[in-house]
Amino acid sequence: MRDSLKVWFLASEVVPFAKTGGLADVAGSLPASLKDLGVDVSVGLPFYRMTKNGNYKTEEVLNGLEVPLGEAKRRGEVLKTSTQDGIPVYLFRQEDFFDRSGLYGTAQGDYPDNFERFTYFSRAALLFAKETGLRFDVVHCHDWQTGLIPAYLKTLYRTDPFFSDAASVITVHNLGYQGVFPAEKLPTSGLPASEFRPEGVEYWGKISLLKAGIVYSDAITTVSPRYSQEIQTPEFGLGMEGIFQKRSADLYGILNGADYDTWDPAIDPHIKAGYTFSDTKNKKECKVDLVNELGLDRRFVDRPVLGMISRLAAQKGCDLLVQIAQDIVQLDAGLVILGAGEETYQKFLVKLGREYPDSMAVRIGFDETLAHRIMAGADMLLVPSRYEPCGLTQIYALRYGTVPIVRATGGLDDTIEQFAPGSGQGTGFKFVDYEAKAFLEKIQEAVSLFEDNTTWMRLVTNGMKCDFSWERSAREYVSLYEKVKQAIKNKSEVRNDRRRE
Ligand code: ADP
Ligand code: GLC
Repeated sequence: MRDSLKVWFLASEVVPFAKTGGLADVAGSLPASLKDLGVDVSVGLPFYRMTKNGNYKTEEVLNGLEVPLGEAKRRGEVLKTSTQDGIPVYLFRQEDFFDRSGLYGTAQGDYPDNFERFTYFSRAALLFAKETGLRFDVVHCHDWQTGLIPAYLKTLYRTDPFFSDAASVITVHNLGYQGVFPAEKLPTSGLPASEFRPEGVEYWGKISLLKAGIVYSDAITTVSPRYSQEIQTPEFGLGMEGIFQKRSADLYGILNGADYDTWDPAIDPHIKAGYTFSDTKNKKECKVDLVNELGLDRRFVDRPVLGMISRLAAQKGCDLLVQIAQDIVQLDAGLVILGAGEETYQKFLVKLGREYPDSMAVRIGFDETLAHRIMAGADMLLVPSRYEPCGLTQIYALRYGTVPIVRATGGLDDTIEQFAPGSGQGTGFKFVDYEAKAFLEKIQEAVSLFEDNTTWMRLVTNGMKCDFSWERSAREYVSLYEKVKQAIKNKSEVRNDRRRE
């Protein structure tokens, strides 16, 4: 039992307390696997309105936490709850900042004070630990919202004995969100002005909180091996490729896992009837249920139904979908889309859905249970991403016997193997060029294979048998935590020796 490894796991969204995407799934399930491996893990996130509405049983553990924001101070409270697995979860309450309808903004755009909101959370997480004696060997940060934490440890708190042995790891879930803010905001963070330099938080004349996380942390991870390579190239680095290249010795690609307690048709409470790879007949019941619920024509019970569950953002290949949606309808396939995001995509898809109400169903919004019913009821899942750090929906789809049609990029490429009818090997369909034509060709290939039930079922069961559970990835995180912990310990021993000399 590794009872000595203590991890302070900080993310801006964590299932079930708050979610907009896959980060929440990861932050909600990885800690449980770490705990199974003997890690003493505590989780922290902001207390949003969404969290408040969940009515979790909480107790207030700190009242009047004062967090400096520039010259001013913001007061907040810390509430404690726990996950089903008994992991302590600390919720940072600051009503002005977090009691809002969205996590980061509305359909019209980001909240203008996101810098202040997440600076608050980052600093509060460290101050709370110190004030309450929550010791940790490693702080594991996620994305730009927590990027200041490694910077604080290496600057403001460098000589603070409470933090002297604390290492930091940041996981980059999505380089498309870099947390870029005007340089004038630097004093609000409390970082010394001297950190505003190319080797620090400066990014093209502005501040990037993600860059802060990458530059100051002891190790960096991304959520698939392929993406960890891609981000070191100009095509995927989105301006940060040089920063990653510089830190390539400390950069790791650790594939996300799936939480099969939540995403498994054998035990899923949200679907009509459960099924497993050895007995898939109830999948048809789920399909009938979906066709009825969404008002598709009855003939689609026997025709292929294609699903997509996604943020509607350029990253997700929405422009490709928009170009070929009508062609899909022409193939006499059903198309079911659940998504929320950019207004132009929302509007276009809703309009198209109205034109083809028999064969297309478009649901705009975030609907957790419908996501499960689509996963179970559809025959194929579309994930045509322009880039994809990992992607979770294609991994879940495999377990539901819903064949993924993906673009060969990032984690999609790492998790899906193109099916070869000759050998019967493979788990899905993969296209390479980011082009509508290439995407449509793969859909056509899938739709025609669907006619051959025996081969199709081979493909379905190949996917259902895959195992992407967290344990293997959690082990990789544990060895990384141990590595950075040891490195920090060695450094502080050297410092102490020097002092004694
Ligand atoms: P990303 O994090 O980039 O959005 P992932 O594939 O890693 O992509 O994770 C997406 C997660 O969010 C999945 O759990 C998926 O089911 C869920 N999801 C995305 N859009 C919706 C939606 N509109 N309603 C319900 N769940 C959604
Ligand atoms: C991000 C990425 C997605 C990844 C998820 C969880 O939102 O876009 O690819 O699966 O984070 O790591």
